[in-house]
Amino acid sequence: MRNTIPFLAALPLRRTETQRYRVRDSVSTIETEAAVEPAYLRTVLAQWASGVVIVTTIREDGERHGMTASSFTSVALDPPLVSVCLASDGTTCRMVRRSGVFAVNVLGSEHRDIGRRFAEPGQDADRFAVGDWSTATTGAAVLTDATAWLDCVVAACHPAGDHTIVLGMVRDAAVPRPAEPLIYHDRTYHEGMAR
Ligand SMILES: Cc1cc2nc3c(=O)[nH]c(=O)nc-3n(C[C@H](O)[C@H](O)[C@H](O)COP(=O)(O)O)c2cc1C
Repeated sequence: MRNTIPFLAALPLRRTETQRYRVRDSVSTIETEAAVEPAYLRTVLAQWASGVVIVTTIREDGERHGMTASSFTSVALDPPLVSVCLASDGTTCRMVRRSGVFAVNVLGSEHRDIGRRFAEPGQDADRFAVGDWSTATTGAAVLTDATAWLDCVVAACHPAGDHTIVLGMVRDAAVPRPAEPLIYHDRTYHEGMAR
């Protein structure tokens, strides 16, 4: 029998409509017939445990910018490709598309504060005030004590609903400090398993 989440029982599971999402010059049209409601989907997906990264890039004025992400995926080894999935109307997505570069910083279990800070909405506070940052070859910021980082140039951007799948060609990568990973599950940060 299906194991439902009680407080979501009232939410409709399905809706029927066609959505068009515009990302700069391209439009992604998704038939959402039989799609699961976004609020329900968010709760279901919260059960998926993931690592946490900070995606950094360069603003128009040359300053650094970054945000917390869990959608990081390795895509190919040859050529070396990775992807992140960014909200198309977010600042980071816009700046990654504009600059054509980004870095992915894999957080360790002691980096919760950084994960929280880079997810806070608004651009007023300097997100980089927490953590020790340096600059990689592309100009994107990398965390000096990251579990790992990958410095990338944008290879392609694919609109996908209200998000954009950003494919990055890895230009440089490092493992500055192997450590237990930071894990995100059920909207909570957890320490990864000890070795
Ligand atoms: C653990 C965690 C993972 C997240 N993963 C993503 C993600 O993969 N893609 C995304 O667009 N937003 C993700 N977010 C939300 C962004 O971090 C958040 O909306 C941020 O404020 C966006 O910053 P920006 O508007 O400067 O781009 C995540 C948030 C948290 C806490």
